[in-house]
Amino acid sequence: MDWSDKQFGFETRAIHAGQPADATTGAVVTPLYLTSTFVHSQPGVFQGYDYSRAGNPTRSAYETCVANLEGARFGFAFASGCIGTTTVMHLLQQGDHVVCCDDMYGGTYRLFEEVFRKQGISFSYVDLRDAAALEQALRPDTRLVWVESPTNPLMKLVDIEQVAQIAHAADALLMVDNTFLSPYFQKPLALGADLVLHSSTKYINGHSDLIGGVVVTDDEALRERLDFLHRSMGGIQSTFDSYLCLRSLKTLAVRMRAHEDNAHAVAHFLESHPKVDWVAYPGLASHPQHELACRQTSGHGGMLSLQVSGGLEAARRILSRVRVFTLAESLGGVESLIEHPGLMTHASLSAEKQREVGITDGLLRLSVGIETAADLLADLEQALA
Ligand SMILES: Cc1ncc(COP(=O)(O)O)c(C=O)c1O
Repeated sequence: MDWSDKQFGFETRAIHAGQPADATTGAVVTPLYLTSTFVHSQPGVFQGYDYSRAGNPTRSAYETCVANLEGARFGFAFASGCIGTTTVMHLLQQGDHVVCCDDMYGGTYRLFEEVFRKQGISFSYVDLRDAAALEQALRPDTRLVWVESPTNPLMKLVDIEQVAQIAHAADALLMVDNTFLSPYFQKPLALGADLVLHSSTKYINGHSDLIGGVVVTDDEALRERLDFLHRSMGGIQSTFDSYLCLRSLKTLAVRMRAHEDNAHAVAHFLESHPKVDWVAYPGLASHPQHELACRQTSGHGGMLSLQVSGGLEAARRILSRVRVFTLAESLGGVESLIEHPGLMTHASLSAEKQREVGITDGLLRLSVGIETAADLLADLEQALA
């Protein structure tokens, strides 16, 4: 069955792509193939799978489905977003240069600076909202441009189509970390990206009960190299976690719509609150790139940041008072989370770097869940009072 996006809608593909009824039993749900190895009828002759690091039918079903949702043919499921990033970075070699957005997930920044810089890869961090700054940062040895959009935590947007054109003109690949919006709201490959990464720990799985990553591409040469790296480096997602992610994809669309509805309500509430200096949410008309958000994405997701007046002391007070929001890192689960980027997710950035990208003492990041909207607003109201 051809589950291409030309014929079927997102929700249909999320439920069916890569998931035919089980050929041996007729099971409607893709079975959990908990096996490390597979029988050979003769040495070297087997039915498509020989060892689960190289491939497993449950993981394959999930990889096919998630790739389909991103508009790609090839997907690779990893044990974490970070090992997905690590594996992609092995497409490069010593002496290569990467241009990255300056406001990126702190763990990715740490990996680039503390691991890959030591291996001879160099990095430039640029405000990729500015096309001229990107052009200036590109060098003859630039092989990759690394984008998050929206960025984490300041919700800056990058014009993916424009950056893809500039990167390709310089013979560099474009990788987009699509964790914040999921393929339901943003499809970077259709905008010209070569590779898409997710921390599937977040919206793809959506239930805060596993760590995972996924990388997709529609490029045959990249598929071949990634397939080799995936099976050779072995950063694969476990079969059980692949099963959970596959199950979660079936509700991705309904979850994303619910996240967005609640995030809109929370963003509007906070924007008019006297103790809030500003709210960064691409769905607000006040977001400086609201027009790009409406053009580039089909929705604005569940993530937003705000700066409370009163700095660190005020931020700490709010964090100690929330009851429905949970003080925790991570994002994209059904439950609402709140965190302090300067002290938590982005603590690995030096104070100077934090200042440079705009992470202030009063900055809080919310991952708005799918609880009853009125309960979320009441919780924030009492915490801010
Ligand atoms: C945008 C983004 N990319 C990548 C990662 C890394 O993913 P993981 O924690 O699954 O390794 C994270 C983790 O928070 C993230 O927020």
